Amino acid sequence: MTQFDLSGRKALVTGGARGLGAGMAEALARAGASVMIGDVLASLGRETAGKLAQGGAKVGFVPLDVTKDEEWKSAVAATLSELGGFDILVNNAGIEITALVIDAEAADLRRMLDVNVVGTLLGLKHAFRAMRPGGSAGQGGAVVNIASVAATIAFPAIAGYSATKSAVDRVTRVAAMESGKLGYGVRVNCIYPGLVPTEMGTKLASDVVAAGLFPSAQAAVGAIIEQTPLARLGEVRDMADAVVFLCSDAARFITGIGLPVDGGMGM
Ligand SMILES: NC(=O)c1ccc[n+]([C@@H]2O[C@H](COP(=O)([O-])OP(=O)(O)OC[C@H]3O[C@@H](n4cnc5c(N)ncnc54)[C@H](O)[C@@H]3O)[C@@H](O)[C@H]2O)c1
Repeated sequence: MTQFDLSGRKALVTGGARGLGAGMAEALARAGASVMIGDVLASLGRETAGKLAQGGAKVGFVPLDVTKDEEWKSAVAATLSELGGFDILVNNAGIEITALVIDAEAADLRRMLDVNVVGTLLGLKHAFRAMRPGGSAGQGGAVVNIASVAATIAFPAIAGYSATKSAVDRVTRVAAMESGKLGYGVRVNCIYPGLVPTEMGTKLASDVVAAGLFPSAQAAVGAIIEQTPLARLGEVRDMADAVVFLCSDAARFITGIGLPVDGGMGM
Protein backbone atom coordinates (compact mmCIF):
# COMPACT_ATOMS: atom_id res chain seq x y z
CA MET A 1 0.00 0.00 0.00
CA THR A 2 1.56 3.27 -1.12
CA GLN A 3 0.97 5.21 2.09
CA PHE A 4 3.21 2.72 3.95
CA ASP A 5 5.88 2.81 1.22
CA LEU A 6 9.21 4.29 2.32
CA SER A 7 10.93 4.25 -1.08
CA GLY A 8 13.50 7.03 -1.30
CA ARG A 9 13.61 7.63 2.47
CA LYS A 10 16.95 7.55 4.32
CA ALA A 11 16.90 6.18 7.87
CA LEU A 12 19.35 5.97 10.78
CA VAL A 13 18.55 3.28 13.37
CA THR A 14 20.51 3.39 16.64
CA GLY A 15 21.25 0.14 18.43
CA GLY A 16 20.53 -1.63 15.14
CA ALA A 17 23.24 -4.29 15.43
CA ARG A 18 20.85 -6.79 17.06
CA GLY A 19 17.46 -7.25 18.72
CA LEU A 20 14.62 -4.84 18.07
CA GLY A 21 16.86 -2.34 16.27
CA ALA A 22 18.02 -4.95 13.73
CA GLY A 23 14.37 -5.92 13.13
CA MET A 24 13.40 -2.26 12.68
CA ALA A 25 16.25 -1.72 10.22
CA GLU A 26 15.10 -4.79 8.27
CA ALA A 27 11.46 -3.68 8.20
CA LEU A 28 12.38 -0.14 7.09
CA ALA A 29 14.55 -1.60 4.31
CA ARG A 30 11.73 -3.94 3.26
CA ALA A 31 9.40 -0.91 3.08
CA GLY A 32 11.84 0.69 0.62
CA ALA A 33 14.09 2.88 2.78
CA SER A 34 17.89 3.01 2.69
CA VAL A 35 19.17 2.38 6.20
CA MET A 36 22.23 3.24 8.27
CA ILE A 37 22.75 1.19 11.43
CA GLY A 38 24.51 3.04 14.27
CA ASP A 39 25.78 1.00 17.20
CA VAL A 40 28.65 0.54 19.67
CA LEU A 41 28.96 -3.11 18.51
CA ALA A 42 30.97 -2.50 15.34
CA SER A 43 31.60 -6.02 14.04
CA LEU A 44 28.05 -7.24 14.76
CA GLY A 45 26.66 -4.01 13.31
CA ARG A 46 28.62 -4.49 10.07
CA GLU A 47 27.52 -8.13 9.91
CA THR A 48 23.84 -7.18 10.38
CA ALA A 49 24.10 -4.43 7.74
CA GLY A 50 25.70 -6.90 5.33
CA LYS A 51 22.91 -9.45 5.87
CA LEU A 52 20.18 -6.85 5.35
CA ALA A 53 21.86 -5.53 2.20
CA GLN A 54 21.46 -9.02 0.70
CA GLY A 55 17.72 -8.27 0.54
CA GLY A 56 18.53 -5.63 -2.10
CA ALA A 57 18.30 -2.46 0.00
CA LYS A 58 21.15 -0.05 0.63
CA VAL A 59 22.20 -0.72 4.25
CA GLY A 60 25.33 0.66 5.91
CA PHE A 61 26.92 0.78 9.34
CA VAL A 62 28.41 3.67 11.29
CA PRO A 63 30.02 3.42 14.75
CA LEU A 64 27.86 5.41 17.16
CA ASP A 65 27.78 5.72 20.92
CA VAL A 66 24.52 7.65 21.40
CA THR A 67 25.83 9.32 24.57
CA LYS A 68 28.55 11.14 22.61
CA ASP A 69 27.59 14.42 20.91
CA GLU A 70 30.59 14.27 18.53
CA GLU A 71 29.71 10.75 17.37
CA TRP A 72 26.19 11.89 16.49
CA LYS A 73 27.73 14.52 14.20
CA SER A 74 29.75 11.91 12.34
CA ALA A 75 26.82 9.45 12.22
CA VAL A 76 24.57 12.07 10.61
CA ALA A 77 27.38 13.03 8.20
CA ALA A 78 27.88 9.36 7.24
CA THR A 79 24.13 8.90 6.71
CA LEU A 80 24.04 11.95 4.45
CA SER A 81 27.11 11.01 2.44
CA GLU A 82 26.44 7.26 2.11
CA LEU A 83 22.65 7.30 1.71
CA GLY A 84 22.24 10.75 0.15
CA GLY A 85 19.83 12.16 2.74
CA PHE A 86 18.44 11.79 6.25
CA ASP A 87 14.71 11.85 6.98
CA ILE A 88 14.05 9.04 9.47
CA LEU A 89 15.66 8.53 12.88
CA VAL A 90 14.80 5.58 15.12
CA ASN A 91 16.19 6.27 18.60
CA ASN A 92 16.26 2.60 19.63
CA ALA A 93 19.58 2.16 21.50
CA GLY A 94 18.93 1.46 25.16
CA ILE A 95 20.12 -0.48 28.18
CA GLU A 96 18.38 -2.02 31.17
CA ILE A 97 20.10 -2.77 34.50
CA THR A 98 17.75 -4.64 36.83
CA ALA A 99 17.73 -3.84 40.57
CA LEU A 100 15.26 -3.66 43.41
CA VAL A 101 14.97 -0.14 44.82
CA ILE A 102 16.83 -1.21 47.97
CA ASP A 103 19.77 -2.37 45.82
CA ALA A 104 19.90 0.65 43.45
CA GLU A 105 23.44 1.69 42.46
CA ALA A 106 24.07 5.33 41.51
CA ALA A 107 26.48 4.37 38.71
CA ASP A 108 23.94 2.02 37.11
CA LEU A 109 21.18 4.65 37.33
CA ARG A 110 23.44 7.27 35.74
CA ARG A 111 24.47 4.89 32.95
CA MET A 112 20.81 4.16 32.09
CA LEU A 113 19.99 7.89 32.14
CA ASP A 114 22.96 8.56 29.88
CA VAL A 115 22.13 5.98 27.21
CA ASN A 116 18.34 6.02 27.36
CA VAL A 117 17.59 9.71 27.97
CA VAL A 118 20.68 11.71 26.99
CA GLY A 119 21.19 9.44 23.96
CA THR A 120 17.60 9.98 22.79
CA LEU A 121 17.78 13.76 23.29
CA LEU A 122 21.08 14.06 21.43
CA GLY A 123 19.55 12.07 18.58
CA LEU A 124 16.62 14.48 18.43
CA LYS A 125 18.99 17.44 18.50
CA HIS A 126 21.03 16.22 15.56
CA ALA A 127 17.99 15.01 13.62
CA PHE A 128 16.27 18.39 14.01
CA ARG A 129 19.42 20.30 13.00
CA ALA A 130 19.82 18.19 9.87
CA MET A 131 16.16 17.72 8.85
CA ARG A 132 14.71 21.20 9.44
CA PRO A 133 14.51 23.67 6.55
CA GLY A 134 18.01 24.89 5.73
CA GLY A 135 19.61 21.91 7.49
CA SER A 136 22.09 19.55 5.83
CA ALA A 137 19.21 17.22 4.83
CA GLY A 138 16.49 19.88 4.91
CA GLN A 139 13.44 17.80 3.94
CA GLY A 140 11.72 17.34 7.32
CA GLY A 141 11.06 13.77 8.42
CA ALA A 142 10.04 11.47 11.25
CA VAL A 143 11.65 10.41 14.52
CA VAL A 144 10.49 7.37 16.47
CA ASN A 145 11.77 6.95 20.03
CA ILE A 146 11.64 3.54 21.68
CA ALA A 147 10.17 3.88 25.18
CA SER A 148 8.67 0.82 26.92
CA VAL A 149 5.52 -0.52 28.53
CA ALA A 150 7.65 0.06 31.64
CA ALA A 151 7.01 3.79 31.14
CA THR A 152 3.33 3.16 31.83
CA ILE A 153 3.05 0.34 34.40
CA ALA A 154 4.78 -0.68 37.64
CA PHE A 155 6.87 -3.81 37.20
CA PRO A 156 9.20 -4.69 40.10
CA ALA A 157 13.02 -4.39 39.92
CA ILE A 158 13.12 -1.90 37.05
CA ALA A 159 12.51 1.44 38.82
CA GLY A 160 15.54 3.16 37.27
CA TYR A 161 14.85 1.80 33.80
CA SER A 162 11.15 2.72 34.04
CA ALA A 163 12.11 6.27 35.05
CA THR A 164 14.29 6.63 31.95
CA LYS A 165 11.53 5.32 29.68
CA SER A 166 8.95 7.68 31.22
CA ALA A 167 11.48 10.43 30.49
CA VAL A 168 11.72 9.28 26.85
CA ASP A 169 7.94 9.57 26.67
CA ARG A 170 8.01 13.18 27.97
CA VAL A 171 10.96 14.14 25.76
CA THR A 172 8.96 12.86 22.78
CA ARG A 173 6.06 15.22 23.55
CA VAL A 174 8.23 18.29 24.09
CA ALA A 175 10.27 17.61 20.96
CA ALA A 176 7.10 17.11 18.89
CA MET A 177 5.76 20.42 20.22
CA GLU A 178 8.99 22.31 19.43
CA SER A 179 9.25 20.79 15.97
CA GLY A 180 5.66 21.71 15.15
CA LYS A 181 5.78 25.22 16.58
CA LEU A 182 9.17 26.03 15.08
CA GLY A 183 8.33 24.66 11.63
CA TYR A 184 10.97 21.91 11.46
CA GLY A 185 8.64 19.56 9.55
CA VAL A 186 9.66 16.60 11.71
CA ARG A 187 7.05 14.38 13.37
CA VAL A 188 8.17 12.86 16.69
CA ASN A 189 6.49 9.83 18.24
CA CYS A 190 7.39 6.95 20.53
CA ILE A 191 6.28 3.37 21.01
CA TYR A 192 5.92 1.41 24.24
CA PRO A 193 7.02 -2.16 23.44
CA GLY A 194 5.91 -5.01 25.68
CA LEU A 195 8.41 -7.70 26.64
CA VAL A 196 10.22 -9.22 23.63
CA PRO A 197 12.69 -12.08 24.19
CA THR A 198 15.76 -10.31 22.76
CA GLU A 199 19.03 -10.37 24.72
CA MET A 200 17.63 -7.59 26.91
CA GLY A 201 14.21 -9.19 27.39
CA THR A 202 15.60 -12.65 28.13
CA LYS A 203 18.11 -11.28 30.63
CA LEU A 204 15.36 -9.33 32.42
CA ALA A 205 13.39 -12.55 32.92
CA SER A 206 16.40 -14.21 34.59
CA ASP A 207 17.34 -11.06 36.56
CA VAL A 208 13.93 -10.94 38.28
CA VAL A 209 14.48 -14.54 39.38
CA ALA A 210 17.87 -13.56 40.84
CA ALA A 211 16.10 -10.68 42.64
CA GLY A 212 13.87 -13.27 44.34
CA LEU A 213 10.64 -12.13 42.67
CA PHE A 214 9.83 -15.32 40.72
CA PRO A 215 10.84 -18.96 41.18
CA SER A 216 11.95 -19.28 37.54
CA ALA A 217 12.31 -17.29 34.32
CA GLN A 218 9.42 -19.35 32.95
CA ALA A 219 7.22 -18.20 35.86
CA ALA A 220 8.22 -14.56 35.25
CA VAL A 221 7.31 -14.84 31.56
CA GLY A 222 4.07 -16.63 32.51
CA ALA A 223 3.11 -13.74 34.81
CA ILE A 224 3.69 -11.23 32.02
CA ILE A 225 1.62 -13.26 29.56
CA GLU A 226 -1.10 -13.52 32.20
CA GLN A 227 -1.19 -9.69 32.38
CA THR A 228 -1.44 -9.44 28.56
CA PRO A 229 -4.92 -9.63 26.95
CA LEU A 230 -3.45 -10.92 23.66
CA ALA A 231 -1.80 -13.67 25.76
CA ARG A 232 1.70 -13.82 24.32
CA LEU A 233 5.06 -12.05 24.45
CA GLY A 234 5.91 -9.42 21.85
CA GLU A 235 7.83 -10.31 18.71
CA VAL A 236 10.48 -8.19 17.02
CA ARG A 237 8.26 -7.74 13.95
CA ASP A 238 5.41 -6.37 16.11
CA MET A 239 7.67 -3.46 17.11
CA ALA A 240 9.26 -3.10 13.67
CA ASP A 241 5.93 -2.81 11.86
CA ALA A 242 4.73 -0.12 14.32
CA VAL A 243 7.91 1.85 13.62
CA VAL A 244 7.38 1.58 9.84
CA PHE A 245 3.82 2.84 10.30
CA LEU A 246 4.90 5.87 12.37
CA CYS A 247 7.65 6.74 9.85
CA SER A 248 5.31 6.46 6.87
CA ASP A 249 2.86 8.85 5.26
CA ALA A 250 0.05 6.75 6.76
CA ALA A 251 0.97 8.55 10.02
CA ARG A 252 1.27 12.02 8.42
CA PHE A 253 -1.09 13.68 10.97
CA ILE A 254 0.33 11.87 14.00
CA THR A 255 2.92 13.55 16.22
CA GLY A 256 3.67 13.58 19.94
CA ILE A 257 2.08 10.21 20.71
CA GLY A 258 3.16 7.15 22.66
CA LEU A 259 1.83 4.04 20.91
CA PRO A 260 1.53 0.93 23.08
CA VAL A 261 2.67 -2.20 21.17
CA ASP A 262 2.22 -4.57 24.06
CA GLY A 263 -0.80 -6.83 23.42
CA GLY A 264 -2.78 -4.66 25.86
CA MET A 265 -0.47 -5.28 28.85
CA GLY A 266 -0.25 -1.60 29.74
CA MET A 267 -3.92 -0.66 29.36
N1 LIG B 1 13.26 -6.34 24.59
C1 LIG B 1 12.26 -5.83 25.29
O1 LIG B 1 11.51 -6.56 25.94
C2 LIG B 1 12.02 -4.34 25.28
C3 LIG B 1 10.82 -3.88 25.81
C4 LIG B 1 10.55 -2.52 25.84
C5 LIG B 1 11.48 -1.63 25.32
N2 LIG B 1 12.66 -2.11 24.82
C6 LIG B 1 13.61 -1.11 24.31
O2 LIG B 1 13.89 -1.43 22.95
C7 LIG B 1 15.22 -1.01 22.63
C8 LIG B 1 15.98 -2.18 22.04
O3 LIG B 1 16.03 -3.23 22.99
P1 LIG B 1 16.52 -4.72 22.65
O4 LIG B 1 15.63 -5.63 23.38
O5 LIG B 1 16.72 -4.87 21.21
O6 LIG B 1 17.94 -4.70 23.42
P2 LIG B 1 19.33 -5.39 23.05
O7 LIG B 1 20.15 -5.28 24.28
O8 LIG B 1 19.12 -6.71 22.45
O9 LIG B 1 19.92 -4.41 21.91
C9 LIG B 1 20.25 -3.09 22.24
C10 LIG B 1 21.19 -2.54 21.17
O10 LIG B 1 21.54 -1.20 21.56
C11 LIG B 1 22.95 -1.06 21.46
N3 LIG B 1 23.45 -0.03 22.37
C12 LIG B 1 23.52 -0.08 23.72
N4 LIG B 1 24.10 1.04 24.20
C13 LIG B 1 24.39 1.83 23.12
C14 LIG B 1 24.98 3.11 22.95
N5 LIG B 1 25.45 3.82 24.01
N6 LIG B 1 25.10 3.61 21.71
C15 LIG B 1 24.66 2.90 20.63
N7 LIG B 1 24.12 1.67 20.71
C16 LIG B 1 23.97 1.15 21.96
C17 LIG B 1 23.49 -2.43 21.80
O11 LIG B 1 24.83 -2.60 21.35
C18 LIG B 1 22.49 -3.34 21.07
O12 LIG B 1 22.84 -3.54 19.72
C19 LIG B 1 15.80 -0.47 23.92
O13 LIG B 1 15.66 0.94 23.95
C20 LIG B 1 14.94 -1.09 24.99
O14 LIG B 1 14.94 -0.36 26.18
C21 LIG B 1 12.95 -3.43 24.80
